[in-house]
Amino acid sequence: MERMPSALPDGEPVPQDGALPPAALAGTAPLGFYLHVPYCATRCGYCDFNTYTATELRGTGGVLASRDNYADTLAEEVRLARKVLGDDPRRVRTVFVGGGTPTLLAADDLVRMLAVIRDEFGLADDAEITTEANPESVDPAYLSTLREGGFNRISFGMQSARQHVLKVLDRTHTPGRPEACVAEARAAGFDHVNLDLIYGTPGESDDDWRASLDAAVGAGPDHVSAYALIVEEGTQLARRIRRGEVPMTDDDEHADRYLIAEETLSAAGFQWYEVSNWAASEAGRCLHNELYWRGADWWGAGPGAHSHVGGVRWWNVKHPGAYAAALAEGRSPGAGREVLADEDRRVERILLELRLRDGCPLGLLKEQGLAASRRALADGLLDPGPYEEGRAVLTLRGRLLADAVVRDLVD
Ligand SMILES: C[S@@+](CC[C@H](N)C(=O)[O-])C[C@H]1O[C@@H](n2cnc3c(N)ncnc32)[C@H](O)[C@@H]1O
Ligand code: SF4
Repeated sequence: MERMPSALPDGEPVPQDGALPPAALAGTAPLGFYLHVPYCATRCGYCDFNTYTATELRGTGGVLASRDNYADTLAEEVRLARKVLGDDPRRVRTVFVGGGTPTLLAADDLVRMLAVIRDEFGLADDAEITTEANPESVDPAYLSTLREGGFNRISFGMQSARQHVLKVLDRTHTPGRPEACVAEARAAGFDHVNLDLIYGTPGESDDDWRASLDAAVGAGPDHVSAYALIVEEGTQLARRIRRGEVPMTDDDEHADRYLIAEETLSAAGFQWYEVSNWAASEAGRCLHNELYWRGADWWGAGPGAHSHVGGVRWWNVKHPGAYAAALAEGRSPGAGREVLADEDRRVERILLELRLRDGCPLGLLKEQGLAASRRALADGLLDPGPYEEGRAVLTLRGRLLADAVVRDLVD
């Protein structure tokens, strides 16, 4: 999942032509593309991603915001990226289409969006091409079109195997449908399949969570993401909890569920490689996410999408109407940007790398952070073996408290 909540940061303005400072352009890091599709059939009560239902869009963006034109609009931003990156010779290593619900568009639209990247930049021979998909929105013919069009990885939003949990989450698919999707994706020739799960939903028991994990691994994906439910302010779910209609789960329950996930997934042959992500093999890891976590370059196209190229981070206007209008007028849809200082990059590397199985180099830590790392080691939150060799790597207990450990280490 692209963690792209709907609030945008402040920043300096992006030039009308989207030009980057020359120093950002000499990059040699792998280059990826994130393509955001900001449409959903209905809004899940827990979700605050930058996505719009037809009702939410009505009267707010005209024809420009319509999803019928979206593939063409997005193609304009890919062409803008080509201009901005000039003669950058890098072929694209990863493409990730996320949402929203990408599979609300016609499969041909997703294939056309990929084709523009192929035409403008070229794809690396072993490029990883992923789309997210909602289980109720695909069928075998749809999946075959994607596969034939070049997609080789697909990520289904399963969330839970239990009907009462899906109901609290406002999911519209039925239990069993995500597992059937995995089989359909395999039959269509997808090499890599992920299932997203959520734990800690109000009313979910340990047994419900075990059943979801068992159903997920039984379906035969080669990747599972398991996220603790975040109750975002302003969502329908937050209002329901405040009104006392559904109970809130607490941190202890989240920790128990995480331990169950680790136990079940490792017994099924999956290994964690980031705190919320497990893969069945090296090849099953999501290269696109690794590109984010390791500070490589990516261009995020679409409303509200974030990009990072050569130490410059920028983000697009949020609304699909404003986004399409900017591109139609030949302007960059960028809403703001910041040039990362060395200290920003250091902090960001610790925040992201500490969550990885490889951990982060102790050399990134300052005096206070190093002292905190020694305490974390003594408390059993960091692994002594890698620590001896100069790396901070979370233990299982450390993964349960990852956010707190990271906060201490960045000082
Ligand atoms: C933004 S969704 C997009 C994919 C697709 N529309 C779907 O829902 O399956 C990507 C993933 O983010 C996760 N997610 C979204 N909001 C979340 C929240 N508030 N807490 C935890 N996970 C969340 C879900 O697991 C979801 O599958
Ligand atoms: S389908 Fe996915 S993106 Fe759309 S509202 Fe639900 S969780 Fe959010």
